Amino acid sequence: MNLLVVGGGGREHAIIRKLKENPAADTIYALPGNGGIARDAQCVPIAATDIDGIVRFAREHAIDYAVVAPDDPLVLGCVDRLNAIGIPCFGPKANAAIIEGSKAFSKELMKKYGIPTAKYEIFTDLDAALRYLDTAPIPTVVKADGLALGKGVIIAATREEAKTAVTDMMANGKFGKSGATVVIEEFLEGPEVSVLSFTDGKCVKPMVSSMDHKRAHDGDTGLNTGGMGTVAPNPYYTPAVAQRCMEEIFLPTIRAMAAEGRPFRGCLYFGLMITKDGPKVIEYNCRFGDPETQVVLPLLESDLLTILQATTNGTLEETEVTFSQKHACCVVTASSGYPEHYEKGFPITMTEEAAAHTYVAGAKEANGTLLTSGGRVTGTTAVADTLEAAVREAYRLADGVTFQNAYRRSDIGKRALQARS
Ligand code: AMP
Ligand code: GLY
Repeated sequence: MNLLVVGGGGREHAIIRKLKENPAADTIYALPGNGGIARDAQCVPIAATDIDGIVRFAREHAIDYAVVAPDDPLVLGCVDRLNAIGIPCFGPKANAAIIEGSKAFSKELMKKYGIPTAKYEIFTDLDAALRYLDTAPIPTVVKADGLALGKGVIIAATREEAKTAVTDMMANGKFGKSGATVVIEEFLEGPEVSVLSFTDGKCVKPMVSSMDHKRAHDGDTGLNTGGMGTVAPNPYYTPAVAQRCMEEIFLPTIRAMAAEGRPFRGCLYFGLMITKDGPKVIEYNCRFGDPETQVVLPLLESDLLTILQATTNGTLEETEVTFSQKHACCVVTASSGYPEHYEKGFPITMTEEAAAHTYVAGAKEANGTLLTSGGRVTGTTAVADTLEAAVREAYRLADGVTFQNAYRRSDIGKRALQARS
């Protein structure tokens, strides 16, 4: 089979490594991939948002199945366009990807179908939003409606901060069109859990739960990033919480999307907060998480390609999806200064052992040398019988990845370890 994977980060590297375990995967193309992925797949420099370019490439290369991993091409209708030329795909069509593409849409969906989430108001008028903030409970959360590279959420501790955020989004065009509509919502408290799930639009099979570490620095301080590390499973996701999530959130969401004429097929990511009133949805993503995928897929015991195809064919119910009982930890090594200013172009060296456990995110190849080319450069994953051992091993392996100005948090997994004691 000729497979095509759209995207070029650590998540895509993890997906590609897992797809390769199936002997039917003869050729895997990555569009655009990256310098590290190039060691596992054929990378072609076509951007993940260049839908015309992707469709042209797929037609010319007899692609049998495509996996569209990032949010932007999904929201732009990449799956619709590939389906239109007869290529089956993993991922939702644009009319279902809107569950991530518009926070106003997802909040209205949850309200209509009684799915637990933070209380909210939606605004398209700046003055109305500012007036609302005069009396809104503080702290409050301001969210740009559309995709904003993970930066569109502001937790405002004061009215002034909230008003500045709303003005930046609605009047100063901070996130372009994505900020023309804003959601202002209730501030929730409690531990966060990420649950990625496979769904064919009827059946939903959750993957092992995980915990992201979004802040740049130790002790969950510093700016929000794309994610500095992950562990799986998440100790806050107890069997009782899992059962409530299935009954109150997962199944109702899948049914709601089908009832709206927007069946969701692919990976639906539930960003949850376990509040004192039970689990609530913080956000939906229409795709695999990054770096959640880098801990979840290494624990998957069933064949990934078979499951992905089952979500497309509507046969997920009868398809085996089993995860190991082990633990996984992924430690991200970033360019110092990320998520703000950082230098790039430094040579990366990896021991053979580290490379075998490392997914490459921000690197390009030049004359046979891997050079840093992004904020998050690599994610190194270890799997072990206990969380303690997985964390220790992930750090030991990550020490085998070196480049100038490398930076990593030193406390990935610490909160999860404390949660259990
Ligand atoms: P997002 O960019 O949508 O992943 O949101 C970033 C982070 O903002 C989430 O991981 C939460 O930690 C936080 N957040 C979002 N919504 C709320 C809320 N209603 N209450 C408290 N924290 C929130
Ligand atoms: N790690 C969070 C995300 O993928 O959105």
